[in-house]
Amino acid sequence: MPGKPRLLCVDDEPVNLKLLDTILTSQGYDVLTVPGGQEALGVIQEKEIDLVLLDVMMPGMNGFEVCQWIKEREEYRNIPVVMITALASKEHRTRGIEAGAEDFISKPIDKNEVLARIKMLLKMRDLNSRLNRGYANLNQLISSGEEAIKTFNPLHFDFISAIDNIVKQVIRQAGESSDKPRIVLVGFVDEERSWKWFQYESAFEELYRTPIEADVQKALRLPDYGESTIAFYNESDLEKIGLQAFVKKVESLIPIKLANFTCYLSAEFSIFAINYSNDLTSYDAAVLKSIVMQSLFLKSLADQVKETENAFAYLVSALVRASEANDEESGNHVKRVGLYCSIISRKLKLVESFVNNIRLSAQMHDVGMIYIPAGIIKKPGPLTRDEWNFVKNHPLFGVKILGNHPRLQMAKNIALAHHEKWDGSGYPYGISGEKIPVEARILTIADHYDVLRMSRPYKPSYDHETTVKILCEGNERVNPNHFDPRVFKAFLETASHFEEVFERWKG
Ligand SMILES: [Fe+2]
Ligand SMILES: [Fe+2]
Repeated sequence: MPGKPRLLCVDDEPVNLKLLDTILTSQGYDVLTVPGGQEALGVIQEKEIDLVLLDVMMPGMNGFEVCQWIKEREEYRNIPVVMITALASKEHRTRGIEAGAEDFISKPIDKNEVLARIKMLLKMRDLNSRLNRGYANLNQLISSGEEAIKTFNPLHFDFISAIDNIVKQVIRQAGESSDKPRIVLVGFVDEERSWKWFQYESAFEELYRTPIEADVQKALRLPDYGESTIAFYNESDLEKIGLQAFVKKVESLIPIKLANFTCYLSAEFSIFAINYSNDLTSYDAAVLKSIVMQSLFLKSLADQVKETENAFAYLVSALVRASEANDEESGNHVKRVGLYCSIISRKLKLVESFVNNIRLSAQMHDVGMIYIPAGIIKKPGPLTRDEWNFVKNHPLFGVKILGNHPRLQMAKNIALAHHEKWDGSGYPYGISGEKIPVEARILTIADHYDVLRMSRPYKPSYDHETTVKILCEGNERVNPNHFDPRVFKAFLETASHFEEVFERWKG
């Protein structure tokens, strides 16, 4: 309940109203007075009222009717109603209870009794609204957690937007507009192991993030927290607990007088939610912590997935290096082929996971060559029929090496079918058209382009234009009928990027 509690007194006797006004105003309440039921309803709808003191016997709408009206409406139901009844009127009390009144005061009123009852009811109302806020927060937390998991993409996890979300939630969590932090400061340890701090403010429904240039860690003399710390402070406590020095330091960083704030501090991430207009409790601090935890959990998950992905990519390149032991000339061939494949796949509007997968899987297209003796690979002249037939087994050797893991399914498809041709004239099975997996149809073009650009024992290197010309017109080895026309079209439309990749990863 920010500010002074606002009480509405309803009585048709001006003397009674005057008396209540005097008693209550002197105790620091904001008092509104009206002479009848109808007027009371108007005020309740226009202004936020914290408690109603209601005379029973009034001309026009009486106290029971007013009370019933309040209690029937969801939006006003929680306003406590105290009925002022004649002493010993048992009937009035029964009717008042039926109408939903919270309490009764007898006339003539006793000042201390009135004040004690009002204080107690306001406290109950405050607790009640905290409870409601708690339920709303819990629902909010659950649904934003659900949303975060649904949209979670570990390979494209962006910590800054995750932090934006934390702040949005902290601000949204607080509910009513009068009841949210005005400023949120967030700091985290970046990839270079140094702290970065941001200041967030919300205005006109928008969230504004600005970097803080000052070294906040140093300015606030925040310790290196081994364990995370969560705390909340109210303006009234700041002096008592000797936090003035700290407050001064914060105030030197942000142009605002520090009042109620809560914070979560840890070795990697810290957040201050500053200047709530209501008093804070451990509940607010716990909400802050659970919001932060949600995002930090996702970050750590994303970090782990990325690390595993990197390890996987590293092992793929180790496998490729091993398979190229007898072919020192190949250099960055497989890396370039992987990149060409992702260019064509993107042009064909294949899904992002396919595009990522083919970049790596394509690199393993010739792992089966590990079985081909160096003597054959390095032979300067033409191969004998038997030698050539043996080389043509390398797709099957590749399948043998890659095995049955689902993660290597695409690599296996490529290894097996990368020498199959659209017109059915390829090997090892001579399958044609769409029976050849699309990833292998893509790789075939990419591989041909790169081999034409490289110098091999049996051929010179060609420049980009000549290579494209050969692929379009054919020569003694290549024929455009070998390629899926749709994939070939995508290649021609992106050919300039192939040249860029070749130049970038030459050698
Ligand atoms: Fe091959
Ligand atoms: Fe190749």
